Amino acid sequence: MTELIKNGKRQDDRKPEEMRDLSIEAGVLKRADGSAYLEWGSNKVIAGVFGPQKCIPQHISNPYKAILKFRYNMAPFSVDDRKRPGPDRRSTEISKVSKEALESALILRHFPNTMIEIFVEVLQAAAGTRCASLTAASVALADAGVPMKDMVAACAAGKIGDEVVLDLAKEEDNAGKADVPIAIKPKSGDIVLLQMDGDLTPEEFDETLSLAKEGCMKVSEEQQKALQEKYEMEEGE
Ligand code: CDP
Repeated sequence: MTELIKNGKRQDDRKPEEMRDLSIEAGVLKRADGSAYLEWGSNKVIAGVFGPQKCIPQHISNPYKAILKFRYNMAPFSVDDRKRPGPDRRSTEISKVSKEALESALILRHFPNTMIEIFVEVLQAAAGTRCASLTAASVALADAGVPMKDMVAACAAGKIGDEVVLDLAKEEDNAGKADVPIAIKPKSGDIVLLQMDGDLTPEEFDETLSLAKEGCMKVSEEQQKALQEKYEMEEGE
């Protein structure tokens, strides 16, 4: 097997602290209140936001705030081995942690008894889809005009060979030593999601975390750019 990192270069020619190319477009779905399409390396993800709207079923509504629903779904054709359609343990977990990460950034008390639904469809997957989904969902929520204290920007860092690297690609995720996806609120720097797969020493963990935070700040810039472009386009219409 070829080495994942050799002379400071990764298989896709990236430096350890380099992110895969990321592009985000806001407002891509006509029927959603807010939406975003994102390409991150080979990942392709689309997010749609609906609401605040009438809460269904009504008995789960909250008289003090809107409830948030998050559905992460991977298309059967998004991965090499066809994925069985429908929810599974992994998508349930990703939906849960993503919802909790976003909840802390949204101002939900303005919309009692309502629900806000977020649907994320992963069209093509190549490691890092939970970060891609959260990043797209956050742009879609802003596009929908849902009041937010802050955005949520996500990025992973991890370890391949003996090196800590940013934003693991598929081969690196498969054969690497550790993967640490995180999400932060860029204004406050608060961490709203942190997961870890693999083994790291405490020192390596600190290094991984700070690299992932730097990655999130770059992601945050792209999110702002996408929203700015959308509003500049609207002003020009
Ligand atoms: O996508 P993310 O890194 O957030 O989550 P993961 O569970 O660590 O999955 C890593 C990658 O494995 C995904 O991005 C997909 O490329 C791949 N995968 C797959 O090939 N088939 C699945 N049923 C699930 C994931």
